[in-house]
Formats: sequence, C-alpha cells, structure tokens
Amino acid sequence: MSPYEEVILDHWKNPRNKGRLSNPDLVGMEVNPLCGDAVRLELKVSDGKVADVRFDGQGCAISQAAASLLTELIRGRSLAELREFRDEELLSALGGVIQTRLKCALLPVRALRKALGS
Ligand code: FES
Repeated sequence: MSPYEEVILDHWKNPRNKGRLSNPDLVGMEVNPLCGDAVRLELKVSDGKVADVRFDGQGCAISQAAASLLTELIRGRSLAELREFRDEELLSALGGVIQTRLKCALLPVRALRKALGS
C-alpha cells in the first residue's frame, strides 16, 4: 500500500473531528457538482485562532479522509494563516494525490475558503 493509500484509509476508517459543533463561529459547505459529494466545515474561533473544528459530509473516501486530515492541520492556526492555506499543503499531507482525484481531495479546502468568506 502506498503512503497516500495508507493516509486515506486511516482517516476514512477513523475520521478525526467528525460531527457538529454546538455553536460554530464559521461554517463552510462545498459540494462537488460532478458527483454530489459534500463537505461541511465548522470552526470555533477564539483570540483569532481555531479553537475547535468539526467536519461532516458524505462522499468518496478521498474527500472525507481529506476533510478529516484538514481538521487536524488547521486546529490552532490563526484565521490569517488559514487565509494563506495552500492546496499543496493538504495534498502533501495526503502523500500525493493522483491528478484525476484532485477535486475530491480539495473539496474540504474549498469548504474552508467558504467558511472564511474568501
Ligand atoms: Fe465525489 Fe470524490 S467522487 S468528491
């Protein structure tokens, strides 16, 4: 199994931070129009930083595993840092994503940008 497959399988089987926050400060939802898969991100912000984060959604293993991984990457970061968040950081953390699945892997980043209003 490649490192990429291992990361996807791990987060798909044991999703981190899945669910809803009771009173989120920022919410972003993105749907892949090609397949209907969806990711919703909720952020709790304190002192300008991500104090808590949850994701929810349904769809392919890559989109949901990428959302799980993204929640781990962004917890504790400032909103200013999140506005600078690059697709490549998530793709690198995933271990490299094949070109045909980029839309799946980046669905949660698009949800994040919606949450940030950018
Ligand atoms: Fe729909 Fe992956 S197949 S997001």
